[in-house]
Amino acid sequence: MLILGIESSCDETAASVAKDYTEILSNVVASQVEEHKLYGGVVPEIASRRHCENILWVVQKALDDANVTLEDIDGIAVTYAPGLIGALLVGVNFAKGLALASNKPLVPVHHIAGHISANYIAHPELKPPYLCLVASGGHSHIVEVLSYNKFKVIGRTRDDAAGECFDKCARAMGFPYPGGVHIDKASKLGNPEAYNLPKPKVSGGEYDFSFSGLKTAVVNLLHNSKQKGTEIDVNDLSASVQKTISEVLTEHTIHAAQDLGYNTIAVAGGVSANSGVRLAMENECKKHGYKLYLPPLSLCGDNGAMIACAGSYAYAEGIRADSGLNAYATMSLETIFSDII
Ligand code: KG4
Ligand code: ZN
Repeated sequence: MLILGIESSCDETAASVAKDYTEILSNVVASQVEEHKLYGGVVPEIASRRHCENILWVVQKALDDANVTLEDIDGIAVTYAPGLIGALLVGVNFAKGLALASNKPLVPVHHIAGHISANYIAHPELKPPYLCLVASGGHSHIVEVLSYNKFKVIGRTRDDAAGECFDKCARAMGFPYPGGVHIDKASKLGNPEAYNLPKPKVSGGEYDFSFSGLKTAVVNLLHNSKQKGTEIDVNDLSASVQKTISEVLTEHTIHAAQDLGYNTIAVAGGVSANSGVRLAMENECKKHGYKLYLPPLSLCGDNGAMIACAGSYAYAEGIRADSGLNAYATMSLETIFSDII
């Protein structure tokens, strides 16, 4: 079974061919990050335009690199939600056209289901059910992965996502966009105990997150020190921010695993590339005797391979879309296929 996966939900135009779910024959990513860096964040209109320019050659290269033609493909999977609406529409409409012209089935993929699937590529032995922490620029979720296509979200952020918090703190410290990776690098030179930052608890949802207070604390700290003319050690502050975010993500995930009786945990999304998050999860899972799955760094961020893999599981379960498929800026992971499975 060969599935072509297409991803355009944010600032990466990506395509990949997956064979039999997890064997990645090609993985092409055209990143726009250098252009968005000029503006300190993703400019949606620019993202849409670049997707339009890149999508044809990215998909063609994915087929070429895999040494296959469109004829060989069994299904065309595409991210249809959530993300920047104009960016998503480029991928969705391209995939619809391609499916129609080639008479191939169209398979809708939820972006977060894609991130979760990145772990199957690196660890084909990982099988549902298990608990997954998904932390990206737009989402912080604790997800019960009930089956390959069925999810229950038991924890979510009430405000900023973990990646968003990394990026906003990084921006306040003067790092370029996207700042998460810069905080990660600076942390290696800093003292994580240097600054005592707030770890907000959320009333109501036991496993929910809130990161906006941490961001505000960092912005205030920098602002006050500027006013007083005192120095802030950016390496120390980075290490303190990274430690706080890593601890919050890990504590909530372990807590959920204990309560719900999971002993297999996975981490997914852009923030799963963070060395502090990976180490905290490794240490805590070891302490509790849990099996931990982390995606390789190459598959943490947005890519086509995760969409081709998630699309393969959806295709196998008969999940299809027709030319009426729309793109959605927001879409719950729980309701995606509720009418089908
Ligand atoms: O999953 P992703 O590529 O895109 C979304 O779906 O949002 O995640 C991007 C996020 C950004 O906020 C980026 O700063 C963060 O992941 N990120 C990191 C690291 N690498 C990427 N955050 C902390 N440390 C990293 N090493
Ligand atoms: Zn993503």
